[in-house]
Amino acid sequence: MAQAPREQWGSGLGFVLAAVGSAVGLGNMWRFSYVTAENGGAAFVLLYFAMLLFIGLPIMLSEFVVGRASRKSPMQAFQDLADSRWKPLGALFVASGFLILAYYGVIAGWVVRFAGMSLLTGFEGDAGERFMAISTGPDAILFQVLFMGVTIAIVLGGIKKGIERTSLLLMPLLFVLVVGLALYAWTLPGAAEGYRFYFQTDFASILDLSVLSAAAGQAFFSLSLGMGAMLTYASYLGRTDNLPRQSAQIALIDFAVAFIAGLMVFPFIFSFGLQDAVSASTVGALFIAVPQAFAALGTLGQVIGFLFFLALLVGALTSAISLLEVVVSSLIDTLGWTRKKATLLAGGAITLFGLPAAITLDGLSVMDAIAGDVFLVVGSLGIALFVGWRMKDAEDELRRGGLDFGWIPVWRFSLKFIVPPLLLVVLWYSVNNAIGEVRGLFGG
Ligand code: PHE
Repeated sequence: MAQAPREQWGSGLGFVLAAVGSAVGLGNMWRFSYVTAENGGAAFVLLYFAMLLFIGLPIMLSEFVVGRASRKSPMQAFQDLADSRWKPLGALFVASGFLILAYYGVIAGWVVRFAGMSLLTGFEGDAGERFMAISTGPDAILFQVLFMGVTIAIVLGGIKKGIERTSLLLMPLLFVLVVGLALYAWTLPGAAEGYRFYFQTDFASILDLSVLSAAAGQAFFSLSLGMGAMLTYASYLGRTDNLPRQSAQIALIDFAVAFIAGLMVFPFIFSFGLQDAVSASTVGALFIAVPQAFAALGTLGQVIGFLFFLALLVGALTSAISLLEVVVSSLIDTLGWTRKKATLLAGGAITLFGLPAAITLDGLSVMDAIAGDVFLVVGSLGIALFVGWRMKDAEDELRRGGLDFGWIPVWRFSLKFIVPPLLLVVLWYSVNNAIGEVRGLFGG
């Protein structure tokens, strides 16, 4: 059967904003604030930035190079560029996209729910109880299905009309919302204390290897690395884009959004004395403590709360479409399915697979520990090894489009010798953490 010609992005800006859309999501606002709070504030942020530059960027470039050179989805790309022994890496990517979206859709469903609730009723009452009541069970499933429906509808539209158009429209909105909310948070009475907590520097803490590994894990999750989202998006590129410049833009914007999100979340929390909720529960900071702050602000809080959850929803949606696109493009490439068939079937199956996460919170954290952490690290290790050792013309591919001033061999060298050992250390910690989560699930 003759395949239709591969779709392409309409413009370089469209590609960059779609990739930023994939990167900026729940990871920047919810995961970043909480991981920062747990790992020593500003010192952690510095370490995170270093991880972003020295591990995140080289891996992002690797994904871009493989995607653009092969013009294929993860399932096909590695074997086209090398041989079929690399196929399992592509399969791992697809499995990660599948699993991450399964629980990501559940969290995004909460966000939809909280946005609606903010406008309609506000957040009076016990925040912890409210969160427990709606985060699992039929309510959670309803909103998960709703969110997945919108995600599926966008991916059905394809690259230019679905994903690119959505990103061009929504990403600017997200930037305005996040900056606006951070400015508002600055006017709150407890803002100074929030900043003090955010910028407190506990340099001793970052010497701990588990903190290093948390920073690396956060970098992969936040930049959407190690599962082929960036690879897939790059497979829809023309030959002339300047990949190094674009990847630097994407990483910096992603960092800026996370950083600014911290500037809004911490003042909200400290203005209302809710700091305990942050450490009490992973999901606490966002879904328990922050709504409490909005409740204290009365009617104005309903509006601010709505805008806050709207920003989060926009981020979640543009990330979810990239997760789904990894699976869909692989089905189209390998099985020759139409986009419609692939999107509906994959989207439906992923929604079903998310049900355990919508039924128990423990199911959700286990899925996050396994797919969101371990799989992404293994996937990143795999692609570093592939581009470092196996892919033949990786350096030439990167050179096409410019910004070559002699650093490209350094990039290749680090993929060969620096990134892999670092990732092995990170992997050790994330595997241990995942084992702990699974044990916890069975009450051990
Ligand atoms: N980067 C997204 C976020 O920060 C999550 C994501 C991970 C999206 C992996 C795609 C692939 O929320």
